[in-house]
Amino acid sequence: MDSKITFTVNGQSRTVATDPQRPLLDVLREDLQLTGAKYGCGEGQCRACTVLLNGKAVASCMTPVAEADKQTIVTIEGLASGDKLHPVQEAFLAEGAFQCGYCTPGMILGTVGLLNELPNPSEEDILSRMQRHLCRCCHYQKLLKAIRRAAGQTAQSAAPK
Ligand code: FES
Ligand code: FES
Repeated sequence: MDSKITFTVNGQSRTVATDPQRPLLDVLREDLQLTGAKYGCGEGQCRACTVLLNGKAVASCMTPVAEADKQTIVTIEGLASGDKLHPVQEAFLAEGAFQCGYCTPGMILGTVGLLNELPNPSEEDILSRMQRHLCRCCHYQKLLKAIRRAAGQTAQSAAPK
């Protein structure tokens, strides 16, 4: 049975009538046409679907939309402020941390979530958190450089296994 669920997404209040157990990713992509969050595995293993829920990076494929009720969501479409990119987006651009780009929205929002929780993450913090994110193009060296740049770090150590 459908429920009415209201949340703020990218600064706008939105209401959907849907199965409350439906994945947030499906509601964002299919009902709200916010297709920046990507479907990769559908089982919490790749993080291509990452969005911010109250500032925290979550796998939206594993998040029932009911958990978003009365909460605040940011997707990649809402990260920039007008024409001004978010600093994490700037860092990814500066390091050329893209190939096909499929993992990129999740990588960027995962980084924003990390920095929201840990503004000065250690190298270990970065590696342990970002190992959750898969890049099918195996572009990890540049991705890590971008994440370190975003975190204001210059350390250069090994990529995630
Ligand atoms: S699609 Fe959500 S973790 Fe892979
Ligand atoms: S750049 Fe292609 S999946 Fe990461």
